[in-house]
Amino acid sequence: NVTGTSIISIPHNTPDAWEMNTLKLKIEDILGHGEFGVVRRGWYLTDKGCYTQVAIKMLKDSPTREEQKQFHQEIEIMKSVPPHPQLVSLIGCVSRGQPMLVVEYCSKGDLQSYLRSAYRKVTKAILINNSIESSGSANYALNTLYDMNKDDLEDVPEPKDLISFARQVAIGMEYLASLKVIHRDLATRNILVFDNKTVKISDFGLSRDVYYNDIYFKSGGGKLPIRWMAPESMTRQIYTTQSDVWSFGILLWEIVTLGSTPYPGIATHDILGLLTSGNRMSKPEDCSEALYSIMTKCWKDEPSARPSFLEIRQSLDELLETHS
Ligand code: ADE
Repeated sequence: NVTGTSIISIPHNTPDAWEMNTLKLKIEDILGHGEFGVVRRGWYLTDKGCYTQVAIKMLKDSPTREEQKQFHQEIEIMKSVPPHPQLVSLIGCVSRGQPMLVVEYCSKGDLQSYLRSAYRKVTKAILINNSIESSGSANYALNTLYDMNKDDLEDVPEPKDLISFARQVAIGMEYLASLKVIHRDLATRNILVFDNKTVKISDFGLSRDVYYNDIYFKSGGGKLPIRWMAPESMTRQIYTTQSDVWSFGILLWEIVTLGSTPYPGIATHDILGLLTSGNRMSKPEDCSEALYSIMTKCWKDEPSARPSFLEIRQSLDELLETHS
C-alpha cells in the first residue's frame, strides 16, 4: 500500500485536453493583424451548450516553415503557463489542418488603441470647452459637450486608472518572470483591455526559443520593436527579465502620454546612438516626478541596476495610495 506518491502514466494516444473541435468554432471578422497572421473574433460552443466569445489567432496564408514552427511553439508556451488574472487565458487550440490559437476575448481591444481613443476624446472635449469659453453663448457647443459627456467620455480613464493599468502589467510580468518567461515585446499594443478597469498581457507565447542562463539570444530575423528595446537587446541580442523591465518603462511612458509613439520626431536608426550617449526621453507633460522616476530607473544602462517587477509594483502601489 503505497501512499504519498502516485505514478500516473498517460497513454500516447490520449487526446490533448486543449485540442478543440473546429465544428464548435465559429470564426468572424478580423480584430487585428500581427507579424505572422491575423486575430479574428469568434464564438466557441462550450460543453454547457452556450456560445462564448473568443479571439482566434491564425497564421497568414502560405506561412513559411519557420513561421509554422514558431506558431506551434507559441501554442506550447501558452499551454505551459498556468493561468493568471493578468495574462490573456488560453481557451484551446487546433493543431491539425490550419493551426489556431483560441484565447479569451477582451472586449475593449488593445491598450494602445484604447489610450489613443481616450486621447482623441479628451482633446475634443478640451476644444469644445475652449469654444464655449471664447464664444460665451455657444448653445451648439454646449449641446455637443453634453452629448460627449454621455457617450464618448465614458471610456476615458482617470489618472488613477492609468496607474492601475501599469500596476496590473507589472503584476503579470512579475508572474511571468517567476516562471522564467521573457516577453521580449512588452508594449501597449500587446496589452489587452478586458473591461474598463482590467488589463491583461497578451502574446507572451511569442518569446524565446533558445534559453541560456535566463538569457535569450534572438536568432532569426524579423521586424524588431526598436523603440521598446533595451540597448543590450539592440547591440548584443540579449533578452532578459531586465530587458523586459526597460520595455516596461517605455510602456509606462506610452500610458502617461495616452498612446504616443516613443521618441517622437526621432528616426529609428538614431535611437541607439542617442541612448548610448546617455540621453533618455524627457518627462512628459502632466507626468508626476514619482512616475517619471520609475521610468528612468527602468532605463538604466546597466541591466542589473534596473528595478525588479516586484519593486516596480510596490512603487506603483504607493502612488495609487496617494491617489485614493
Ligand atoms: N485583439 C487581439 N487579441 C484580442 C483579444 N484576445 N480580444 C480582443 N481583441 C483582440
